[in-house]
Amino acid sequence: MKRMVVGITGATGSVYGLRLLELLRETGGWETHLVMSPAALLNIREELPEGKARLEALADVVHNVRNVGASIASGSFVCEGMAIAPCSMRTLGAVAHALSDNLITRAADVMLKERRRLVMITREAPLNLAHLRNMTACTEMGAVIFPPVPAFYARPTSLADVVDHTCMRVLDLFGLHAKSEKRWQGLSKEAASLVPGAGQMEGN
Ligand SMILES: Cc1cc2nc3c(=O)[nH]c(=O)nc-3n(C[C@H](O)[C@H](O)[C@H](O)COP(=O)(O)O)c2cc1C
Repeated sequence: MKRMVVGITGATGSVYGLRLLELLRETGGWETHLVMSPAALLNIREELPEGKARLEALADVVHNVRNVGASIASGSFVCEGMAIAPCSMRTLGAVAHALSDNLITRAADVMLKERRRLVMITREAPLNLAHLRNMTACTEMGAVIFPPVPAFYARPTSLADVVDHTCMRVLDLFGLHAKSEKRWQGLSKEAASLVPGAGQMEGN
């Protein structure tokens, strides 16, 4: 059984955390550890009316964000990594500066010090210089900054499509490759024929 920590913070987009938990549950073989910040709970009320109960039901273990003595606060607790979905600019800043001021930022700190996968679904727009510098600092420490930006080539027709595509790409980063017809397969023959020099390209 592999383990993954899912942190949900007070940026808008708590549906990303929800969908990750659903996909991990559907995939099977993963023990999920959920931790939500107080600001996340405010957003969940706004964005996912039945969300908190649903989130807690999907996770194998739910941790109190103030409990910095929880299992996931220690590097000796084996797990594959952590996704912070969504990740607020406050949490981003706290991780960038190794503050470990709650269980989300402590668990993220553990991922970085143990060189484990940390994916931060950072949500803010536009970005100020502190946000950008904090993203750089986290990247330099080994985290993956993954703003939930839609991929229009996948031709999403609903918000669910947009969320699913991002979650699929996040799980790819943990070696969990879902089958999906939304993966890029290259240009259509018609579009490829418009590429300059296409006539001389192999296969055209
Ligand atoms: C409705 C709502 C939406 C918010 N959206 C964002 C957001 O997209 N990005 C962000 O960085 N903060 C956002 N915030 C502000 C954070 O919730 C706030 O900075 C909070 O202190 C974050 O704390 P946390 O990182 O511990 O969850 C939002 C707040 C509310 C109430």
